Amino acid sequence: MKETLLNVKHLTLGVTERDGSVNKAVDDISFEVRKGEILGIVGESGCGKSLTVMTLMGLMKDDVFVMDGQILFGQDDLVRVTPERRRQINGNELSIIYQEPMTSLNPLIKIGRQVGEPLRLHRKDLSDAEIDRMVLELLTEVGIQNPGQIMKSYPHQLSGGMRQRVMIAMASICRPRILVADEPTTALDVTTQAHVLSLLKRVNEEFGTTILFISHDLGVINRICDRVLIMYAGKIVERGRTRDILNHPAHQYTKGLIRSIPTRDQKGKDLICIPGRVPSTMDPREPCPFAPRCGHTMEVCRQTFPECRELAKDHIVYCHMFD
Ligand SMILES: Nc1ncnc2c1ncn2[C@@H]1O[C@H](COP(=O)(O)OP(=O)(O)O)[C@@H](O)[C@H]1O
Ligand SMILES: [Mg+2]
Repeated sequence: MKETLLNVKHLTLGVTERDGSVNKAVDDISFEVRKGEILGIVGESGCGKSLTVMTLMGLMKDDVFVMDGQILFGQDDLVRVTPERRRQINGNELSIIYQEPMTSLNPLIKIGRQVGEPLRLHRKDLSDAEIDRMVLELLTEVGIQNPGQIMKSYPHQLSGGMRQRVMIAMASICRPRILVADEPTTALDVTTQAHVLSLLKRVNEEFGTTILFISHDLGVINRICDRVLIMYAGKIVERGRTRDILNHPAHQYTKGLIRSIPTRDQKGKDLICIPGRVPSTMDPREPCPFAPRCGHTMEVCRQTFPECRELAKDHIVYCHMFD
């Protein structure tokens, strides 16, 4: 078994609402990230994917707080690190890219300077000339044709796909142990999306970077991830190797997600959807949050959240049908 790089244990996140009440947006999730893998987290919008990774990065908004749990990373518990230790970790050992690169690129600073910034912060031993040379090299590696010219450009002068390549370069420049990618291709057209996915795959293979890849689209997850966690309304409901999940899905929600992956001959036709709607995490929830949409709901589903069941090696599900 591969070495565990990051271990999330019983993480529960609360969001304080305007009226002062607390909504458990992520509810007792546990998973590990293994060295060298690309691990996917998939689930519909609002299920808690971004809150989970923002907590990992220590970048939660003021109204979000950790109610319980640990995120073990080397000697640190990322839930409890000091601000000083956090500054050493982010951009250096852990880095993140988002759906919209403009949210993390500074519009007023030239690309060359921005991509080199993490090195300037974490590698005081390097000269400016050395940093510029490393930036130029890395921009070439991420598939930018005219890196010298791009270094002198501002973010708005680049296309969405180019900006995402620049973000990947900036996030990789210190060779982090884990790169978190939160819906990195959602805002891109299909062709650019494919280029960015193969670039991330190369970063994984050539730099040996472990990647935590978030998407609402199981089709995208399938193209890049070794393993996947299926999330529904703040809970992990299934976990396994991507091919096992796709070939032998166990949870009714996973089955629905697979049916909703568009296939070639469905182009233009209506997509098959899972009936019902995603519960708002603010609604009172059933112990199994999928119970209202499941179609196989039993009495017990309305009484307790199921225990974890191991169906095969590395394939687990949380569903009372397997009790
Ligand atoms: N800053 C916030 N204030 C209030 N509610 C939030 C905030 N951030 C997230 N939420 C709620 O938490 C839930 C999970 O959000 P999020 O992690 O962004 O979902 P995802 O990334 O899976 O689409 C959502 O139901 C959302 O409404
Ligand atoms: Mg999100």
